[in-house]
Amino acid sequence: MVCVHFLPDNISTEAEAGELILDVAARCGITISTGCLMGTCHACEVEIDDGHAIRACITGVPSGRSHLTINLYSDPTW
Ligand code: FES
Repeated sequence: MVCVHFLPDNISTEAEAGELILDVAARCGITISTGCLMGTCHACEVEIDDGHAIRACITGVPSGRSHLTINLYSDPTW
């Protein structure tokens, strides 16, 4: 299991590696805005702890790590 921590809400939950980040967020009551749900519109983009912007609708929780921080501050560039 991976401990996933959402900012700025400061909510943590456990998730399986490979589980969609969008689904993990929804499970703990966090809404990530979405559009296409197919990875093309970037509406669902969030930032993870290594500074990369990822698309929550197509990105799973990475395996091989115990913690993941997801920052929902919206990215002004999309
Ligand atoms: S909802 Fe369009 S890229 Fe995720």
